[in-house]
Amino acid sequence: AAGGVLVVGSVNADLTVRAERIPGPGETVLGGDAHTSPGGKGANAAVAAALAEARVALVGAVGHDAFRAAALAGLTRAGVDLAGLHTLDAPTGLALITVSEAGENAITVASGANAHLRSAHLPAEMHGFSHLMLQQELPPEVTLAAAQRAREAGLRMLLNAAPTRGTDPALLRLTDHLIVNEHELAALAGKEGSLKARARALLRRGPQAVTVTLGEKGSVTVTRDTTLELPAHPVTVLDTTGAGDTFCGVLTARLSRGDALEQALRWAGVAAALTCTRPGAQNAMPTWAETQSAGRQVGLR
Ligand code: RIB
Ligand code: NA
Repeated sequence: AAGGVLVVGSVNADLTVRAERIPGPGETVLGGDAHTSPGGKGANAAVAAALAEARVALVGAVGHDAFRAAALAGLTRAGVDLAGLHTLDAPTGLALITVSEAGENAITVASGANAHLRSAHLPAEMHGFSHLMLQQELPPEVTLAAAQRAREAGLRMLLNAAPTRGTDPALLRLTDHLIVNEHELAALAGKEGSLKARARALLRRGPQAVTVTLGEKGSVTVTRDTTLELPAHPVTVLDTTGAGDTFCGVLTARLSRGDALEQALRWAGVAAALTCTRPGAQNAMPTWAETQSAGRQVGLR
């Protein structure tokens, strides 16, 4: 079968509280009720890709504790192939999330089982997939090993360099399409110079395309011969959690379905915006029908 997206990445349960604002060091704020929902940057991207009509499989790890079911609910519902999911003798990853009234978040991840995944857990071969989607919530050696195997098998690899942690130059060399936000761009390319110049500088370190996501300002993508500046899809923001993961998952899905780069980026932007209109990460992601109808309003098809 053509296409097919493999995600090697984190699986978490998200424990979210809304509060007027995000507390500073040493501060206590009173929030609303706590909600448990499925998350993890890897699982989020996998669910987003499946909702955007890609065939998706996930390689990752959870524990056998009480958070396992919450962590897996979205993946199961979206029909993601979980044959590569490992149950390890460690707690399921747990993300502690505070969402402010403005819809911004602060996240602390207790990696748990995600940190216990090893290269030996990866599939020996990656046949049957055209694209690999990676993030930075697994041990770096596992992410790098996945990238190496993908290169050997001829898959295209997209890396979301989130969360910010030193990105191995070897991983960047194996990246076909890098996706970063402004913080991650600064971590990789510094703060000196224009955004486009810094994104272009990253093209010399491996990727053929670099996308910088800019929230309500849309996204900028540079390749060796083009620059695509795409506006954000206008929405009322309630909770931005999972928006970046939605962008990456939908982008990968649409590329795997044969869309051209600009069109795939546009669909990704629409879906990411819709994720901001609802609480949670996976629970907030739009169905493909919703993304299509929002896209049609701005002439996308
Ligand atoms: O990007 C959002 C995700 O980051 C959350 O779902 C949380 O689990 C953390 O991994
Ligand atoms: Na959301």
